[in-house]
Amino acid sequence: MTKSSDGVFFLTGKDFTNAGSASSNLKGILDDMGIPADIVRRAAIAAFEAEMNAIIYAVAGMMRYSITPEAVTVTLQDMGPGIPDIDLAMKEGYSTAPDYIREMGFGSGMGLPNIKKNTDKLTINSVVGEGTTLEFVIYLQGLSPETSG
Ligand SMILES: Nc1ncnc2c1ncn2[C@@H]1O[C@H](COP(=O)(O)OP(=O)(O)OP(=O)(O)O)[C@@H](O)[C@H]1O
Ligand SMILES: [Mg+2]
Repeated sequence: MTKSSDGVFFLTGKDFTNAGSASSNLKGILDDMGIPADIVRRAAIAAFEAEMNAIIYAVAGMMRYSITPEAVTVTLQDMGPGIPDIDLAMKEGYSTAPDYIREMGFGSGMGLPNIKKNTDKLTINSVVGEGTTLEFVIYLQGLSPETSG
């Protein structure tokens, strides 16, 4: 089994044709590495929500991942517009999604709360006019003897 892996996926704002492919690729990588199914499920949910936010709200961005025997760390960095009030954005049901996004099935205001729920550590930094960096960590150690090397 591969012990560590890292990489990056590039994301284009409003590119709904490829939306979800970065998180889906990441899920495949985690599966191939033999990461426990529950960890893969949590990482895939969190990565998908973060990827969709970057695609829906930002101009462009990237998803970096780092998988070690200790943890899965995923960082979404985008190029704006930024989040003016992160505490408000974290609230269940809060959404600024426009109608055409809601018609696609997004905009319930559940993405960020879902990321929080499925991860062990979540950090969001945002500067209006510059962009947002969201990083989450899911710990592996202690959960799977074969990965706690
Ligand atoms: N990367 C981002 N850049 C700018 N604003 C963001 C970003 N991510 C989230 N937001 C803001 O935070 C709000 C809440 O995000 P969240 O993902 O929780 O819900 P949503 O995207 O509106 O709906 P859902 O995720 O349920 O489809 C968004 O409506 C948006 O205003
Ligand atoms: Mg969302």
